[in-house]
Amino acid sequence: MTKTKADPKKVLFTETVLRDANQSLIATRLKYSEFKDILPTMDKAGYYSVECWGGAVFDVCLRYLDEDPWQRLRDLRKNLPHTKLQMLLRGQNLLGYKHYPDEIVKMFVQKSVENGIDIIRIFDALNDLRNIEVATTAAIKAGATVSGTLSYTQSPVHTLEKFAKQAKEMEDMGVATICVKDMAGVMTPLEAYDLIGAIKTEVKIPVVLHTHCTTGMAYLTYMKAIEAGVDIIDTATSCFSGGTSQPATETLNYALKQYGYETGLDDATLKQVNDFFKPIRDRYVKDGLLNPKMMATDTDALNYKVPGGMLSNLVSQLKAQNAMDRFEEVLVETPKVRKDLGYPPLVTPMSQMVGVQATSNVLAGERYKNISKEVKAYCRGEYGTAPAPIDPEVLKKALGDEKPIEGRYADTLEPVFDKTKAELAGTAKSDEDVLSYILFPQVTEKYFAARKAKEEKIVKYTITPVEE
Ligand code: CO
Repeated sequence: MTKTKADPKKVLFTETVLRDANQSLIATRLKYSEFKDILPTMDKAGYYSVECWGGAVFDVCLRYLDEDPWQRLRDLRKNLPHTKLQMLLRGQNLLGYKHYPDEIVKMFVQKSVENGIDIIRIFDALNDLRNIEVATTAAIKAGATVSGTLSYTQSPVHTLEKFAKQAKEMEDMGVATICVKDMAGVMTPLEAYDLIGAIKTEVKIPVVLHTHCTTGMAYLTYMKAIEAGVDIIDTATSCFSGGTSQPATETLNYALKQYGYETGLDDATLKQVNDFFKPIRDRYVKDGLLNPKMMATDTDALNYKVPGGMLSNLVSQLKAQNAMDRFEEVLVETPKVRKDLGYPPLVTPMSQMVGVQATSNVLAGERYKNISKEVKAYCRGEYGTAPAPIDPEVLKKALGDEKPIEGRYADTLEPVFDKTKAELAGTAKSDEDVLSYILFPQVTEKYFAARKAKEEKIVKYTITPVEE
């Protein structure tokens, strides 16, 4: 195997406590005020980067935390002046759940960089690289470091050759690193060794591995990936590690240093960071938001070949319909639906679509009797090209005589920015506000109303003493 690792004795760390660990364990509920005091310390830890924005952070800030996500980003920038700030971006979906016109993708990326982002990890749920191209080009143009990302999944069409070829295509697109993203934590040590090796043989740029502890394999997987030459790994400070989150930063740092790897991390600072987050973790356990089960190992995802998060969704769907006795049947049906749909990786929004369709196929007593509008849109090609051809009979049932679209769905979308900005005159205070609204209209409208109410209160408060 050819190893092209730039420095064979170096492994760098991305700390995920502010984004993925926060999202995986406590539904992204960390408020900025809760962690702001530790930022100057984190700034000295020696991380390759801190993942702190994107994913669900944006939506949750507006929806539940009464925070402006852009303000959070600017505050992070100010308090982590020496650290690379990293975000996760769903390609043409940005941080929302549908495809946006290119104009919006470009602007959103530009504004993310302007407000403080250094590294953008860009992925597409189907690994349709046309869906990451516009965001990638815009991010490079804005001066960001782009991590071109492959959504990892296992299927007969997701071969080492295919993944390695796509990594090369992304390198040619101009990305600075390749990230392999195992969002379900199902990658085995052997698979990691082979896949990282295959990608390393194909590309010259550094390779990142992202996984979750869900099935208990992540530490082994990282060690084998490092043997195969992986350059950067994602970890979380130990009290926010394990289970559905990432492996622990301190643990891997300790083990790797003993092997003689340079990690760049400062042990004493890592301890301070962990000591800071411990009481926060304990409070979330006490509140009930952090279920200790989330921090334990669950091997069901291996038995059923269904990611952990999707399993719990299936259970709640069936419970709601009083049909838990059909659970085993739905689990058998799920991989069949995935195959029919051309083996999409089971990541948002595909995991939801496949799960709902499998449940409906079982409960209706007839396969594809009901097809959701999302699955129809998927069959039409609105999410991109499926990894393998969709089953012709399913396609026929979903679309009738209608033909799937040719080319890229985003090419059919009209620009919306100027129109939306005009509509929001008087409410939106910045182009960032307009972008928030375009991504999450109802949620942002509510946020705007709350902001206005708060401002009026402040004005009243500051005026009162003058009147007296
Ligand atoms: Co993840």
